[in-house]
Order: sequence, then C-alpha cells, then structure tokens
Amino acid sequence: MVTAFVEGWDLVQTLGEGAYGEVKLAVNRETHEAVAVKIINLNKFPNIEESVKKETCVHRMLNHETIIKFYGSRQDENMQYIFLEYASGGELFDRIEPDVGMSQLDANRYFKQLISGVEYLHSKGVTHRDLKPENLLLDDNDNLKITDFGFSTVFRFQGKERKMEKCCGTVPYVAPEVLSRKPYYAEPSDIWSCAIILVALLAGELPWDEPTYSCKEYCDWKDCKITQSPWNKIDNLALSLLRKVLLENYKKRYTLEQIKKHQWFNKSFKSRKAGLSLYPSGSPSDSPSGTGPFKRLCSRMEMSPPNTASPRANISCSQPELRPCNYPESQPDARTDRKDNSNFIMSFSQPVHLDNMLLSSQIQGTPGSSQTPMQKLVRRMTRFFVKTDQEETLQEINRVFDHLGFTWKKNTPSLLTVSTVDKRRTRLVFKTSLVNMGENLLLDFRLSKGDGLEFKRLFIKVKERMKPVISKVPPMWPLHPIRPDSLT
Ligand code: ADE
Repeated sequence: MVTAFVEGWDLVQTLGEGAYGEVKLAVNRETHEAVAVKIINLNKFPNIEESVKKETCVHRMLNHETIIKFYGSRQDENMQYIFLEYASGGELFDRIEPDVGMSQLDANRYFKQLISGVEYLHSKGVTHRDLKPENLLLDDNDNLKITDFGFSTVFRFQGKERKMEKCCGTVPYVAPEVLSRKPYYAEPSDIWSCAIILVALLAGELPWDEPTYSCKEYCDWKDCKITQSPWNKIDNLALSLLRKVLLENYKKRYTLEQIKKHQWFNKSFKSRKAGLSLYPSGSPSDSPSGTGPFKRLCSRMEMSPPNTASPRANISCSQPELRPCNYPESQPDARTDRKDNSNFIMSFSQPVHLDNMLLSSQIQGTPGSSQTPMQKLVRRMTRFFVKTDQEETLQEINRVFDHLGFTWKKNTPSLLTVSTVDKRRTRLVFKTSLVNMGENLLLDFRLSKGDGLEFKRLFIKVKERMKPVISKVPPMWPLHPIRPDSLT
C-alpha cells in the first residue's frame, strides 16, 4: 500500500527491516524523486534516541561516492525519520549465490569499491563496525555504497586515536579481538570484516560462525587446514590475500595500503562475455553458477508492484531549518543545515530533481523500459509469481511451510510472519506477502531476522517446493534484498 508521510511524498515500499525498524522507499509524487527513509520508533527501545543522534551525526559528515548519502533527518513525536540516498540496485547480498559466490571479476570490483569506502571512512576518523554484505548496497550502475551507520563511531579526532570498547557487529564478520572484551583498534577490525565479506563474495558462504577457539572452522584456518570449503572454492591468489588479512594478530594483519598493493587486488579479471561492457547491469558477468536456480535469481531485473491504491492522507511538515550537530569533524562545506522546532535537518546535497536520475535509468534500452517509473524503482530478489488465487496460494504455502517445519502467524490475510531456525540453530524470521498484481499474484519473501545467506538457501527450498504453482515469470522480474542479524 502507498502511504503519504510528508507532503508530496509517498512511502511506496519496504526496502529492508532491522532491529530498529524499517527502511522504506519514498517517492515524490510529482518529480518521482526517490529517497530511502529509515523509520525508527523512538519509544520501542531504551536509549535509542542517543544512538540515532550519533548515527546521524556520523553519517552526515560523510561525503563519498562509496557511501550512501545522508540527506537529512526529522523527528515527529516518537518517530525518527532518516532520509538517505536510494540505492536502486538493492543489496550486494543479492549478487551472492549461496555456496557459489560470484565471479572473481565481480568480487574484485566490489571489493575494490569496499576498500575505497573503508579507506575514506578511516581517513575521516570513522569506523563502521558492522561491515557485511547486507550493509553494502548497489546503485543503478552497480556501484557499491556502504550504509547503516548505526554502530559507527569516531575513533580518531584531531589526530588523536582512541581504542574501541564496545563489542558490536555481526558475529561471523567480527574480528577476534572484538570478541575478546578488551579494548581494540578500530581500523584492523573493519579490515577483518572486509576479508570475511570477500570470502562470502568468492565462495557464497561464511568461513566460520565466530572467530574463537571454540569454533573448529576457525581453528582449522589458523592451523592452515584449508582443503575444505570455503577455501577450496577460492583461487590461490585470492587465498593468499585472505591469509594476510585474516590474521588473528591485528598488528600483523594487512593494512588497507598493503591490501591495495596485493596482486589479487590489482589483477585484471577478464569478462567471459567479450564485447560486452565490463559491468553490465545484468547478472554477475562470469558467474560460476551457469545454470541452476540462482542464474535467474542473480540477474538484475527490475520491477515492483504497481502503484495501486494511494490513500494520500497527507501529513504536511514544516520547512527544513537549521540544526547544529555537536559531533566532531562535521563538514561545514556542503552540509549547511538549518533548524526549527520540527527537528528537520536537510543537507544541501538533498536531491532536488531525482526524477532526472530515474529518467536516465529508464531510458536505457533495458528490456524493462516499457515499465512505468514506479515499476522501475525496486529490484528485489526473493519473490515469484504464482498462478493460483489467494486462497489456493495460502493452502500451498501452509503445505510447504508445514513440510519445512516452519511456524508462522497470519498478520493480515496477505502477510505472514514465518519463523524457523537455520543450520546453525540461529533463529530466522521472514515475512511472506501476497501482492495482488492485477492478473497475477506475487509472493514476496523478506528477511526480518537472521542470517541472509541462510535465508536465501531457505528461499530456494520454498521456491523449489512451490514449483507446481509458480507461474512463468515476466521477463523483467526482479529479485530481492534481505536484512541482517546483529550482535547487540
Ligand atoms: N535498504 C536499506 N537502505 C536502503 C537504501 N538506502 N536504498 C535502497 N535500499 C535500502
């Protein structure tokens, strides 16, 4: 359903979900400018207001092509809205085929962009502290954008560095010293997470549940026992880089400078598709997958449920005004904010005519260019069409979910919340919505809590079992993003 939350803007779709709340896509009714809006209910968690303030203060001082732009924030009673650049390519996560990964060409390109982003953050004295594929988005040109600064903090201010004390991040991605409960250095721990991301990109799985001695996979890595998965899927040159970064001793761990000089980092990988652009907006260029369910899943096709009913219950807001932020290192240049009683901050980098951006992507001769602007907005992966009606579809869902041992509840006739546990016995919660698309019914699956790769594996199982009712997917059907679990 489309809802208006600020004069002239409609919230058209949920992009992601996290512990704090949701990220929604907001579209300007006239110009079709698109922004992502992180919506946080301040009453839901104690001390959330402080951490939101910190997140916005850190994020707003950042300005780099690899970082999701911060446009502004606004507080309405107990609701906090954070306006962000909308990354129409979805999550990097969606380019990873479970247990396979992606081509080295693609992994190398994304990894370079990630390192460039982390280098920028560190140059500003900022550490992200929750780097993982779910927090890496892609824009229309398939360029990586780091997002979610909820755990980020300043580790260097006016040349003075401080050690980190809080244990935060997502366990499989965190460096061993972060779990040690002793103060740790910010930079090497972010760098460790980048290497775990690289393993995920190249192998489609994570190397261990946690980097502790109670974890056999981690001990094996330390003992150089690397004949097993995921290491046997990774080329030797990439492995030699990983060996230098995934070093327990952070003093010996490669720095960003050293990573940038490594041979794998600098290698030119060839696309198999000669004559095509190196970075097509299609599927990972030389995906090792070839065939199988994710061939389709990984293709970057775009479409979203059409903009149907719009209640247009406008809530107007007062004009943006100045609000100072007392956080260190804020950039005075392009970010002249204004304040008034409405707590609305807007930076000058706010999009004025995002319709231009949308139009530029629409006029490309992509197979989806006959779609409406709204249909073009969202690329999602975990969804498919069914040929059955609502009632039959729900029966089929019941059958499949029962078979897979899921528990679920019906939030509304067209929205189910489903719970299960993954192979690590970690809780996995996802939402299944039935979206009426005129003649077709769309089944949309979105992760609410748990590990993204596990969710994808599970989605494949569900899809496999629902095959009898799945209808032919229109040629431009998109596939979907996921949300993470966090150690908090
Ligand atoms: N999911 C979470 N944040 C997002 C953003 N800024 N753009 C697109 N999808 C998102």
